[in-house]
Amino acid sequence: MMKSAAFKLLYVLFFFAHIARSNGDSIFENYSQINLTQGTGPESIAFDCKGEGPYVGISDGRILKWRGPKFGWKEFAIPSPFRRRNLCDGSTNSDLEPVCGRPLGLKFNTETCYLYIADAYFGLSIVGPYGGVVKRLATSAEGDPFRFTNGIDIDTKTGIVYFTDSSIAFQRRDVDSLLRSSDRTGRLLKYDPYTKKVSVLYDGLVFPNGVALSANNSFLLVAESTGFRILKFNLASQGKSGDNVPEVFAQLPRVPDNVKRNGNGEFWVALNAGRSGTAPSGVPDPIAIKFDEEGNVLKRLDGNGAITFNSISEVKEFNGKLYIGSVTKPYVAILNA
Ligand SMILES: *[C@@H]1O[C@H](CO)[C@@H](O)[C@H](O)[C@H]1NC(C)=O
Ligand SMILES: *[C@@H]1O[C@H](CO)[C@@H](O)[C@H](O)[C@H]1NC(C)=O
Ligand SMILES: *[C@@H]1O[C@H](CO)[C@@H](O)[C@H](O)[C@H]1NC(C)=O
Repeated sequence: MMKSAAFKLLYVLFFFAHIARSNGDSIFENYSQINLTQGTGPESIAFDCKGEGPYVGISDGRILKWRGPKFGWKEFAIPSPFRRRNLCDGSTNSDLEPVCGRPLGLKFNTETCYLYIADAYFGLSIVGPYGGVVKRLATSAEGDPFRFTNGIDIDTKTGIVYFTDSSIAFQRRDVDSLLRSSDRTGRLLKYDPYTKKVSVLYDGLVFPNGVALSANNSFLLVAESTGFRILKFNLASQGKSGDNVPEVFAQLPRVPDNVKRNGNGEFWVALNAGRSGTAPSGVPDPIAIKFDEEGNVLKRLDGNGAITFNSISEVKEFNGKLYIGSVTKPYVAILNA
């Protein structure tokens, strides 16, 4: 009796170990990574008009371009003409971010091929297709300076840029305090390239982070990190009814970061797993969720407890691959889509 129960238990344990292992293997089956050679934390990922890249913004304030395994990373842009190279280049010290810069959201305008940058400290900036020193477009809205510029997307028809300022109280280097707080000072902002004016579309948000427009620009998704949810702002009705009150698009099991639309008009929401190390295998470990336009879950990416995926900021689908960014890891992870 005792013996058979023990055997059963052993059998069950082996069974689960097998499931956990085969799952663990599958996420790494087509895994590869592009290591950074300096700095860390490729938070957001972009590809240019020619499909070249990825481009990433890193911990030392620079934007780098990947030119393939033979040529490696090349500096593409710096966030300020006054940035001190000897102090900043290669820095991973978050206390230097206010002087070195910290590019977060990156987005090419597909019409002009200019890159728009949401730099956590330097605000909304732009740089041409050949890079160089970025030009600052805006650092405040309606009298309140940006404190933590973060996510970005562009309406390619109008050129209007949507972006977030995560808080007017906390800076990016204090993100852990912001996550523990009940701060509701985040803003959803809009930059009009013709009038060069920034307006506040919505304020009082709970750590607004990534933003993504729908394929025909009729609505905008905004991740509320500490709210564990994605809000949907209907842009088509804007101005008609006069209110911008959002709907809840999705509730999430973990802290959402960037939201990126793929070529099919679907959305990848990156979830910060918030683990400091590996997690037990076999336990659900969602690191990203793919949604359709109605908010239905199409796919869940499971990190299988691996330390590789314990800090995810973005999943960018491009040419059949998923490029996975992180604020803390020194690499871009790549999986098959
Ligand atoms: C890995 O890539 C191969 C070849 O493209 C494909 O057949 C297989 O399904 C992929 N596995 C996973 C887990 O994506
Ligand atoms: C990237 O770095 C990891 C960890 O240091 C190393 O195992 C791997 O071989 C590197 N990959 C490449 C392509 O250099
Ligand atoms: C934009 O897309 C939405 C969702 O797919 C659709 O309901 C709406 O009719 C479209 N609007 C226009 C102007 O095409």
